[in-house]
Order: sequence, then structure tokens, then C-alpha cells
Amino acid sequence: MIIYKEEKHRTIIEATEAELNELKNKSINDPWKPNYHIHPEFGLLNDPNGLAYYKGKYRLFHQWYPFGVTHGMKHWAQLESEDLVNWKRVGVALTPTETYESHGAYSGTAIEIDGKLYLYYTGNIKFGKEERSANQCLAIMDEDGKIEKYGNNPLILGVPEGYTGHVRDPKVFKKDNNYYMILGAQRLDETGTFIMYKSIDGLEWTFLGELSFENFDNNFGYMWECPDYINIDGKDVLIFSPQGIEPVENKYHNIFNVVYVIGKFDVENLKFIVESYDEFDAGFDFYAPQSFKGKMNQPLLFAWAGMGEFKAPTDDNLWANCLTFPRELSIKGDKLYQVPAKELELLRDNEVSNSGIANERIEILSDNNCYELDLTIDSLEANKFGIEFLVSEEEKLTLTFNKDNKSVILDRSNMVHQYAEEYGNVRETTIKSFDKVNVKALVDNSIIEIFINNGEKAFTSRIFPLENSKGVEIFTNSEIKYSYSRYSLKKGI
Ligand code: FRU
Repeated sequence: MIIYKEEKHRTIIEATEAELNELKNKSINDPWKPNYHIHPEFGLLNDPNGLAYYKGKYRLFHQWYPFGVTHGMKHWAQLESEDLVNWKRVGVALTPTETYESHGAYSGTAIEIDGKLYLYYTGNIKFGKEERSANQCLAIMDEDGKIEKYGNNPLILGVPEGYTGHVRDPKVFKKDNNYYMILGAQRLDETGTFIMYKSIDGLEWTFLGELSFENFDNNFGYMWECPDYINIDGKDVLIFSPQGIEPVENKYHNIFNVVYVIGKFDVENLKFIVESYDEFDAGFDFYAPQSFKGKMNQPLLFAWAGMGEFKAPTDDNLWANCLTFPRELSIKGDKLYQVPAKELELLRDNEVSNSGIANERIEILSDNNCYELDLTIDSLEANKFGIEFLVSEEEKLTLTFNKDNKSVILDRSNMVHQYAEEYGNVRETTIKSFDKVNVKALVDNSIIEIFINNGEKAFTSRIFPLENSKGVEIFTNSEIKYSYSRYSLKKGI
């Protein structure tokens, strides 16, 4: 067999200390490095992996390519935290050194089995630029946090008949004393789907077949990545990242998009009975999310605040991408709500609050770009109002509430450094009520996450402001009543 390798298929153990120090030094002072969002020290981050609260600590891993900003040989980088907001870098958890993972340790999830944390992942194999296969693999973390690859890897060798080499991203969960694995897959006709396996011990797996859907037209996309499943208040929620779906009105305008479906997961019959579904995030940069239960059993979720492969101004310093801040999920009616995890309060510093009635611009004192803004606007007479972030003479990022056409618009077209602009720089969504609007915004140097009306809608966006673009202003076309608190946020990583 011909062993196919490109320059980017190098592991970190092949690097010299001097090379790694050079990479570290190049990215260390980049002004766009976030303060409290998880990001790589250097190199490229993508999906969050293996999330868990295990033995008194939050365990988080992410896809990582150390040697630059391309999607090269993926490792699992590891971080841990006791409180979900102060993170320590642990190092590399999985280095793809084995034949069964010759071209990367791809995404996967964690589940506690018999007191150990089982980390399931995909061993990516390439035979050429386009030809590939995939093996499903396991690594086990013990009580002391030591991680070892399972001796009998791979658990699942290759892909089942009827699918291309694009089979990956195992999500493992337990139901009625059985373990189930859902995998993203591509059929031979190049359409996307999920396939499932079953196991009684988490080690030996039997192929079950494809997951089917009821009340949901699942005939879209050329590949479905990163299946995620969680039960929230008795409802089953499936979250996934299909590639190649077409925009529908104001939704799904990114190169890749994330969908959630709420309903009932009938695993016995390999069927998901859908009650409702929607786009997960209305913004620009949100992909490959993964949920898990936190210390208090609360449903939490991290996502990669990015997707695909776009040129960013941080490329010059050889680091790329970050994760979202952890979100707490809930279900209200038939919708999924998402708000920043309440542990965010631990990072708060320096509060500035104000309230009043106004019919013109209000400036909010802001001297840095690492803050949380919690703002409520009672629209009174106004039918068009909003907030400008990252304001300077040269640029701004605008969030507009337009009562008449029931739209909420995030516009990053006035930013000097554009990002993924070929997919448009305006995103639009709608909310149930425009009368009293609450906006919670997390700004962190090169990322903004905006939550509207207690999590009814969220917009995630990368932004690369100029050094002096720190202003925040409320604008309106008529009288509004407003109140806000702005907190500077302390460093969390
Ligand atoms: C999603 C994804 C996964 C894959 C990983 C590789 O962003 O393409 O499907 O496992 O990234 O880094």
C-alpha cells in the first residue's frame, strides 16, 4: 500500500522544541487573542471534543493542528477547569501516531463508563488527496486524568458498505443499559445521513443502520458532521452540522450551518420523531457544537466559533479560531433557548450601570473589548433602534431591531477587516416580541456572542476590530427607555 502523506501530516512529536517556541512566540502577543474564550496558544483550533464533567473537573478537548492555520494533522488538545470559566491548558491528549489514525485524530465525544472517561474519536485515514477511510477509536482517561489509547483499537475498522470514507465524529450515549453510537456519514450517492451502532460494554459494536426521521425532510446536504444528542427536561434534542444545505429565507446562509431538532429519539427503531426544528445560531461563525451535562447536571454546549477555512487577520501570527463561551440550554415551547453559562459571573469585574429615557444616541463607557453588556430596551415610541459595537471613526458592528418588518439584523459590513465576506456580511433573524428587548453581548477581542430575549436567538460572530474601535452606542429613531450593566471581564485562559 502506498503511504500518502503531505507536509501538513506531521505530528507534534516530530517537532523540535525550538520550532514550537518559535510558533508560540509568534502568536503570543496577537491583539485579537481572546481573554476568556478558549483558543489555541498557536496553530489552528476547530471542533470542541470529549466534553465532560469528570472527577471534579470540566474536561475539554479540541481539534488542533499545531503548525499553522491549515486543516492539517489533527490532534486533541486538552484543557481543564474547576469552574467552567478559568481554564488550564493540559497539553496534547491524543497525538495520531498509530496506523489506524494515520491522518488525524478527528472529532468525538466523552462518556463515563465504569468510573472511567471513555473518549471516542475517529481515526482519519487518507490514501490520496481525495481517497479516505475512517476507523472509530477509543482512548480512556482514568481517575487520575491519565489518558491511554485502547489496546484493541480500532473499535470499528473502516466504514460499512454503502458509505464513502466520510464516516466520523462518534457521539456515544447510554439508553436502557445499552450504549449507542451515532456517526456522521455520507452515502455512496454523496448525500448526508447518520448511521448507528450498538454495544453493551462500549467496546464491541454492532452496526444497526441509518437513523430515519419522522415529520422532517432530511433530504439535504452532502455530508452530515458532528451528531450531538442530549435530553433536556424529558425532550430529546439532536444537534448536527450538515454540509451543503441551501438557504431557506433568512436561515442557513453560512458555508456550513447547524440544525437542531426536538422530539423523541426512538433508538429501538432507529427513528427520531421530530416535533420542531430550527437553525441553531443566527450569526456567521458557529459550527460543530457539542453538548454535555455540567456539575449540576445542567445542559451545556460549546461550539467552534468558525467553520470551513477562511482567511483571517490572525493567520499572519499563525493561530486561528476559538470556541464559543459555554452556553446553557433549555427548551421553551418548541424552541431551544441558549444563554451564556451563569459561571460567567465569576469573571465579572468593574460594573458600569445606567438607565433612563432617551430619543437620541447614548454612549456606553467602554475602554476595552473584553466585556459583557446586559441591556434592556423598552421600545416605547421607537420602531428602529439598536446597538453599535466596536465603534471608532473607521468602523462599527451594528445590531438593529426593526419593529416594522420584525427583523433583527447583525451587520458586519462596516468593519475594516472583513471575514468570510463571500458569504455575505449581514445576518437576519426574527423574535417574538419587539416591545421590551433584552440583549446580552459577550465581546472578547475577536469574537462577539449576542443573546436576545433571554436566549430566544443567538448571533455568533468573529470580528477583528482596529485597536481603537472600542465604543458602544445605543441608537434609536424615537423615544426608548433603557437600562444596562456593562462588566469588564477578567482573563479566563
Ligand atoms: C467538523 C470536522 C469533523 C471532523 C473534524 C476534523 O469541523 O470536519 O467532521 O471530525 O472537523 O478536524
